[in-house]
Amino acid sequence: MLPADSSKNISFKRCITDGDLVIVYERHDVMKPVKVSEKGILQNRFGVFKHSDWIGKPFGSKAFSSKGGFVYLLAPTPELWTLVLSHRTQILYIADISFVVMYLEIVPGCVVLESGTGSGSLTTSLARAVAPNGHVYTFDFHEQRAVSAREDFERIGLSSLVTVGVRDIQGEGFPDEFLGKADSVFLDLPQPWLAIPSAAKMLQQDGVLCSFSPCIEQVQRSCETLKSSFTDIRTFEVLLHTYEVREGHLASWQDGDGGSVKSCKKRQRSTNGQENSRPQTVMARRTGEARGHTGYLTFARLSCIG
Ligand SMILES: C[S@@+](CC[C@H](N)C(=O)[O-])C[C@H]1O[C@@H](n2cnc3c(N)ncnc32)[C@H](O)[C@@H]1O
Repeated sequence: MLPADSSKNISFKRCITDGDLVIVYERHDVMKPVKVSEKGILQNRFGVFKHSDWIGKPFGSKAFSSKGGFVYLLAPTPELWTLVLSHRTQILYIADISFVVMYLEIVPGCVVLESGTGSGSLTTSLARAVAPNGHVYTFDFHEQRAVSAREDFERIGLSSLVTVGVRDIQGEGFPDEFLGKADSVFLDLPQPWLAIPSAAKMLQQDGVLCSFSPCIEQVQRSCETLKSSFTDIRTFEVLLHTYEVREGHLASWQDGDGGSVKSCKKRQRSTNGQENSRPQTVMARRTGEARGHTGYLTFARLSCIG
């Protein structure tokens, strides 16, 4: 993980060592997490890569195979981890995660409560945001998911910042030990309204809660419950558009899918200083892979008493 405090065990070592987890990057949509081991090899369409060649190189290095093909060896940041983790559940993606971290006002030192943990996609970003001296307490009632999440946090060096508990948060609420101690609470549960009264008790005065729900009916029911102890209740849907930017001739990129191509001419001079007769164009268009609806994010601030 990137921000460094070695005492908290999330230091991003500049050089890869035996046992490190690296994200092997082929393309932005082809990546995989690999645990480095002295005798390990990685085989892909670019050839055979010996892990021993990676050890001692800085994260971000280009590594070559026996055939001369290459990959990049990247550090497991939360952004990359979210893209490569094994999906044991539906997960939150970068657009929603960024919004959550911002609107929950999570800064270093915060205490954050979360349920359910799921695949830990959001948890890794929460952990980095509270580092080096905050903590994330995350709960899931599914024992095996909790075990797998703990293993993942250990692998990516976050275990000192996250505690995973097994608990039915909708049925029992958060543990009493957190009464009045949480700076923020995040819920990704099927019936969040059942957990909201407990979440309200856990929050410090002025603390913020966020609930993620895929269906608007869940949002409506949550908002009804929130009204009794929260204020500033707002719901957002975050939609992300990705653009592909290319240089070439406009005709070579005719639009097959109805999306509009935005273009601007790039003036090019040949070696004799004359302008080229067929100028290159820089073109941009939305890619088809834009993520549609993921869910609704409802935020609310604990009402001040008195
Ligand atoms: C959609 S997943 C959460 C995904 C997570 N936000 C992520 O980004 O990876 C929902 C999780 O809530 C857990 N869950 C459902 N009901 C629960 C309850 N009553 N108490 C605790 N966890 C619960 C499920 O086991 C599941 O792992």
